Amino acid sequence: MAIKEQTTKSNEEIIEVRKKHFLPTAFLYYKTPVQLVRAKGNYVYDEQGKEYLDAIGGIVCISAGHNHPKIKTALLEMLNNDEIQHSSTIFLNQHITNLAKKILSEAPKGIDRCSFTNSGSEANELAIMAARHATGEAMVVNLRHGYHGGTGATLASCGQHSWRFRSQPVSSVTSALEPYCYRCPFNQKPESCHLECAKNVETTIQTSTHGKIAAFIAEPILGVGGFITPPKEYFHEVAKIVHNYGGKYISDEVQTGAGRCGGSFLHTKELGIDADMITMAKGFGNGAAIGATLMKSEVSETLSGKVHFNTFGGDPYQTVQALKTMEIIEEENLIENAKVMGEHLMNSLKELMKKHKLIGDVRGKGLMVGIELVKDKTTKEHAPDECKELMELCKNKGLLLGKGGLFGNVIRIAPALSINKAQTDFMIKVIDESLYEISKK
Ligand SMILES: Cc1ncc(COP(=O)(O)O)c(C=O)c1O
Repeated sequence: MAIKEQTTKSNEEIIEVRKKHFLPTAFLYYKTPVQLVRAKGNYVYDEQGKEYLDAIGGIVCISAGHNHPKIKTALLEMLNNDEIQHSSTIFLNQHITNLAKKILSEAPKGIDRCSFTNSGSEANELAIMAARHATGEAMVVNLRHGYHGGTGATLASCGQHSWRFRSQPVSSVTSALEPYCYRCPFNQKPESCHLECAKNVETTIQTSTHGKIAAFIAEPILGVGGFITPPKEYFHEVAKIVHNYGGKYISDEVQTGAGRCGGSFLHTKELGIDADMITMAKGFGNGAAIGATLMKSEVSETLSGKVHFNTFGGDPYQTVQALKTMEIIEEENLIENAKVMGEHLMNSLKELMKKHKLIGDVRGKGLMVGIELVKDKTTKEHAPDECKELMELCKNKGLLLGKGGLFGNVIRIAPALSINKAQTDFMIKVIDESLYEISKK
């Protein structure tokens, strides 16, 4: 496809301004950073017109595909009709209620209330606040290696030192051990596992709380943590424990939601987790700034008499983008595609694992696939430098990948759900060739 070049500032000029004016907390991927100016479907283009297959979907945000024609048409129609650009929940607007009905139709039974936000962090803030209000308790149990956002309450529940700050308030939170099969904190193997990690949630409550909790928050697959994929049984065991100790279960679906895991629109439903709240963002809006907190009435009712307001949460343009995204996912059968392409990707990467020493583990579900790189398969020493190099080599060959893990040694693959077999095969070929190049050095 011919993509028109765009007049733009040079990479050097942009980097200069960032260096001078951005907070030092802003980071860039790649030794030679990429400036992305255009996008279509599964491809993105830099200022020179170079094409890349986007295998990380922005940052796990693109679900229906970049600039999907149906979303473009809907937005252009709204603009051409001078539809109101901003209207909050103080006024009536049909887009937000259309979206509320649609998203709740995908939620597990019993979850029938929702509130829209601008981000995943805000969705989790609201969920944590609601759990504390509903239970009258403060303590939140989270998981080591978890990530729930960059705001106060969410960072306090972050399980990775790199994201936390000295000023981070850590009161009323405690962490359970990670359900990380490849690096089991109990030194178990799948054959001998007795879900010690699930039982550890109970031990954590018994030893570091007063015996009652407000909430447990966890991602069905730990995204930023490096696509750590707990066994399905883990969640049932944990939900029982959380409820026994009076807590609300918050399932953070900011990365796993919107059909990414293949199976259901919400992975919580697919896993059968008895969650009290589910939070969403990223792929929900296909890149639009929208998040959502879904909850059971029994939680929402406890908020009666209080006022909660989010100026931009549920704005017409954002809600239309999320609604159209949901329709596209349904019409184009993208959840099934995520399942089929995800299996193909996973099987192919497991084949690569047999021949490449650097690949220690391949894991995930649907189109959320992680490759953990290690210097040695026996010692499992993390390989962050090799991970960076792999990303750089793939980028030079026209493939954008993501990175994650506490030590930055996990490649994250999370393309738009519309990825096809040829594109998936391209991904595998480029990763294979690049790993081969690294092994020759
Ligand atoms: C699982 C999870 N929860 C919450 C968030 C925070 O979302 P946002 O960056 O939109 O605030 C993220 C962001 O990466 C995430 O991965």
